[in-house]
Amino acid sequence: QESLPAGYVVRPLARSDNQVRSNSSFLKTLEVLTTVGTISDDAFQRRFQYLKEHSDQYFTIVIEDMNVPPTSAGSATSSSPSLVTPGRGKIVAAGTVLVERKFIHELGMVGHIEDIAVSADQQGKKLGLRIIETLKAIGQQVGCYKVILDCSEKNVPFYEKCGFERKGVEMGWYV
Ligand code: ACO
Repeated sequence: QESLPAGYVVRPLARSDNQVRSNSSFLKTLEVLTTVGTISDDAFQRRFQYLKEHSDQYFTIVIEDMNVPPTSAGSATSSSPSLVTPGRGKIVAAGTVLVERKFIHELGMVGHIEDIAVSADQQGKKLGLRIIETLKAIGQQVGCYKVILDCSEKNVPFYEKCGFERKGVEMGWYV
C-alpha cells in the first residue's frame, strides 16, 4: 500500500471537524464535489450524532494534514468551545462507505462508497487512492460481499486504478 505523505493521517470523521476556520473544515473539503450550502454548527452536530448512532452503517473517514499549524482564527473563544481542537491540522480528503443490509445472499451486506473528495490543491498525491483502499478494507472487515459506487465517466480511470471495474448503469431520479 502507498504510504501517505509525512504528517498526513487517516482517521474517522470527528465531532470537532466542523471548524469554521477557513479552508480547514470537512465541509469545505466536500465542495470539490458539489454545492454544500450553509450548514450551522448545530445542524452539523445533529447529523454527526445520527451517523454516530448508526456507526455500524456509516463510516466516514478523512485525511488530515498535520503539518499545518492551527491559525489564530481557529483558537479558543469562550463562546464556541466545541469548535476548537488545539493542534489539529487541515482536512484534505474525505470519503464514506455506507453498509446496506440485504435479504438476498443470505442477509448479505453491500458497501456503498459515497462522496469521495480530495481538496483541489492536494489531488494527485494518492490521497484518493488511500481513502478508497481504507473504505474497501472497512467494507471487507464488516462482512460486505461487494463494495460498489457510482461515478462520472471522467473518474472511471481513477476507480479502475483503485481496483473497481465497470458494472451496470447508474440511473437517477431527481425530486
Ligand atoms: N484520470 C485518469 N487517472 C486518474 C484520474 C483521472 N481523472 N484521477 C486520478 N487518476 C489516477 C492517478 O494518476 C493515480 O494513478 P497512478 O497510481 O498510476 O499514479 C491514481 O489514479 C490514484 O490517484 P490519486 O492521486 O489517489 O487521485 P486523487 O487523490 O487526486 O483523487 C479524486 C481522485 C477523488 C477523483 C479527486 O481528484 C477528486 O476529489 N476529484 C473531485 C471530486 C470527485 O470527482 N470525486 C469523486 C466523485 S465519485 C464518488 O464520490 C463515488
